[in-house]
Amino acid sequence: MCQKENTVASYKNIVVLTGAGVSAESGVATFRENGGLWEQHRVEDVATPEAFARDPDMVQSFYNMRRAQLASVGPNAAHSALGLLEKKFDGHVTVVTQNVDNLHERGGSSTVIHMHGELTKVRCSYCRNVFEWQGDCTQASRCPGCFNQPALRPHIVWFGEMPFEMDRIESLLRACDLFISIGTSGSVYPAAGFVSLVRSIGHAHTIEVNLEPSDGASYFAETRHGKAGSLVPLLVDELLV
Ligand code: APR
Repeated sequence: MCQKENTVASYKNIVVLTGAGVSAESGVATFRENGGLWEQHRVEDVATPEAFARDPDMVQSFYNMRRAQLASVGPNAAHSALGLLEKKFDGHVTVVTQNVDNLHERGGSSTVIHMHGELTKVRCSYCRNVFEWQGDCTQASRCPGCFNQPALRPHIVWFGEMPFEMDRIESLLRACDLFISIGTSGSVYPAAGFVSLVRSIGHAHTIEVNLEPSDGASYFAETRHGKAGSLVPLLVDELLV
């Protein structure tokens, strides 16, 4: 059983923060490891509002490439274990993900907050509506709502923009009694600061599951280092005992 200060814990509100590492075993590139996305592309060229204003075609093609790759991969054992946890756990489970892939949903999770946006959605700069989008989005793509063109951008939070649903996320962090961080380097805020907030409230157990110690590893009461595809199913088994 997942130990909390040497007592068998009965958790009721679990928040799971995930990063690129939870999707790594599905074949989705992480950002800061060798060969990661930020080694192949400069953030300034593909992941800022200024980059989109300067060269929209380059930015659109960066996300078109990632959207196409997403269509060719599937959820791994970590995603499926979290989907099972949500279904079987006697309490609330919310996945707060930094990832823009849809692998948590395809792995069975339904309460998922995409704080950095979603690859399978685009947003219209005119009517501000958000639309599901498969395939390529270009400057020639017409908004399905207001028919303007060029109008559509990836529904992604770029550097310098505010992550989505932060008020809702903060409420969940303040109310949780178990905070699990999976597959994130802990190097990008505000997500990197979530564990400190949880610790400051003081009543939740905190677990890091990551291939190696993250930048925030020392803030966690418990750390489990290894592959998410192996460690997350074991952790979920403990929580469902
Ligand atoms: N299992 C568990 N952890 C893994 C695995 C795996 N199979 N493979 C890699 N990891 C870990 C790495 O050790 C690393 O600490 O996942 C982490 C990935 O870190 P990053 O590449 O920095 O990705 P992430 O933490 O999600 O980045 C946060 O930065 O650039 C922005 O918007 C982008 O959402 C992203 C944010």
